[in-house]
Amino acid sequence: MFIYKAGVVGAGAMGAGIAQVISFSGLPVVIKDTDDERVKKGIDLVRKVYQGRVDKGKMTASELEQKMSLVSGTTSYDDFKDCDLVIEAVFENMKVKQQVFQDLEKVLPETAIMATNTSALSISQIASAVKRSDKVIGIHFFNPAPVMKLVEVIPGLQTSSETVDDAVAFAESLRKMPVRVKECAGFLVNRLLLPYLNEAAYALQEGAAPMEEMDKALRAFGMPMGPFALLDMLGLDVCADVSMILYDSFGPRMKAAEILGAMHKANRLGTKNGIGFYVYDETKKADLKPILDEIQAKTGVKGTPFSPERLVFQMINEAAFCLEENVASPSDIDLAMLAGTGFPQDKGGPLHLADGIGVDVVLAKLQEFSKTLGPRFWPAPILKRMVAANYLGQKTKKGFFNY
Ligand code: 3HC
Repeated sequence: MFIYKAGVVGAGAMGAGIAQVISFSGLPVVIKDTDDERVKKGIDLVRKVYQGRVDKGKMTASELEQKMSLVSGTTSYDDFKDCDLVIEAVFENMKVKQQVFQDLEKVLPETAIMATNTSALSISQIASAVKRSDKVIGIHFFNPAPVMKLVEVIPGLQTSSETVDDAVAFAESLRKMPVRVKECAGFLVNRLLLPYLNEAAYALQEGAAPMEEMDKALRAFGMPMGPFALLDMLGLDVCADVSMILYDSFGPRMKAAEILGAMHKANRLGTKNGIGFYVYDETKKADLKPILDEIQAKTGVKGTPFSPERLVFQMINEAAFCLEENVASPSDIDLAMLAGTGFPQDKGGPLHLADGIGVDVVLAKLQEFSKTLGPRFWPAPILKRMVAANYLGQKTKKGFFNY
C-alpha cells in the first residue's frame, strides 16, 4: 500500500517529533490537537528541529521552508479524510485513545491504517473499540523521535498481516529501523528499560549513591545518558503511567519504586516542567532530601549498595523473560535496545553482553541480588535451563547466540 499523506493526533513532544520524521521523508503530514494553541506549539516544535539542522549547516533555510510546507495543523478530524495512515500520540488513557480511534474510523478511507504510538497500552484493547480493527497497529517511536532509529511495530490480536507489512514498509520509508514485537505490556523496549530505570530509582531512594554519581557510572558503562537524566527527559508522569501498566501485567517484579510516585505527586515531572530529579529552571530550585527521608522512614530500607550491574542486570533478566515469551528474537532484542535506547554498541545489546559476561555469572548475580535487594531480581527460568545445558555464552561457544 502506498502512503501519500499521513496524520498525527496529538501535538505534544512525541506527536511533533513523529510529524517531523514524516515530513523529513518527503510526505505531507497533518497534526491534530484539541485547540489552536496546542497545534501551533506542535508545529513550532517541528520547526525547531529543522532550525537545529539549519543552524548546524545540515540544511538550508529554503529546504527548511520546503519541509515545513509539508506540515499542516488542524483541530478537526475532517482534515484526515485523505490520509492513508494516521498515528495517534495522545496521553496514555485507554478511554481517550479508544475515542480517538472511533473518531478516526468515521473519517478515514476504508483502506487507511490507524496506528497508535502508545508506550504500553494494549493494541488489541484499543482496536476492540472500532470495526476496522484489522487496520489497527502499534507503531511505537522513541524519544527523541527525530533521532532514535528504532520503531517497534506491534500487531494486536485483530491486526491483519497486510497491515503489519504496510507498517513495516512505512517505518522503513521514514529511514527508521522497524522491529516486529509480539504484543505484551510495555512491548519490548519499555519492558526492558523501565525495570532498569526503576532500579535506579530504588537505588536512589535507598541511599545507595547520589544520582549524579549513578548517572556518571551508567554513562561510563556506555549509555548515552544517565538513568535520572533519561527519567527527566521521558517525564515522570509518562514513567508513572508505564510503570502502572507494567505492574498490572507482570506483578511484583515491576513494582515501581516509591520515589517515582512521590516525584509525580510533587509535580516534579522532568524537563517538561523545569524540575524532575534535576532542576532545569532555577526559579524552581528544590531539595530532594525531604522526599528521600520520608520514603526511607516509610520503607525502612537504606544503605543498599550501588553498582551499574544492579541496573543493567534488570534489563538482561527482562530480556530473558521476553525471549522465553517469544516477544522478539535474540537479535531483535539486542538491536531494539541499541537503536531504541542507545545501549552501548560495543557491548552488542543486553543478550550479547550476558553471553560475554557468562550466563552462569549473570544467573548467580541475579540470585544474589534477589536475596539482598529483593525478589524483583528473581531470575527468568530460561537462565537456569541455559546454565544447566551448558549454554554459558562465549566461553562455551553457545548462549543466547552461537559463537
Ligand atoms: N529533537 C531532535 N533532535 C535532537 C533532540 C530532540 N529532542 N535531542 C537531541 N537531538 C539531536 C541533536 O541535535 C544532535 O543532532 P546532530 O547529530 O545532527 O548534531 C543529536 O541528536 C545528538 O544530540 P546531542 O549531541 O545534543 O547529545 P547526545 O549525543 O547526548 O544525544 C540523545 C542526545 C539522542 C537524547 C542521546 O542522549 C540518547 O540517545 N539518549 C537515550 C534516549 C533514550 O533512551 N530514548 C528512548 C527512551 S524510551 C521511549 O522513548 C519510549 C517511550 O514510550 C517512553
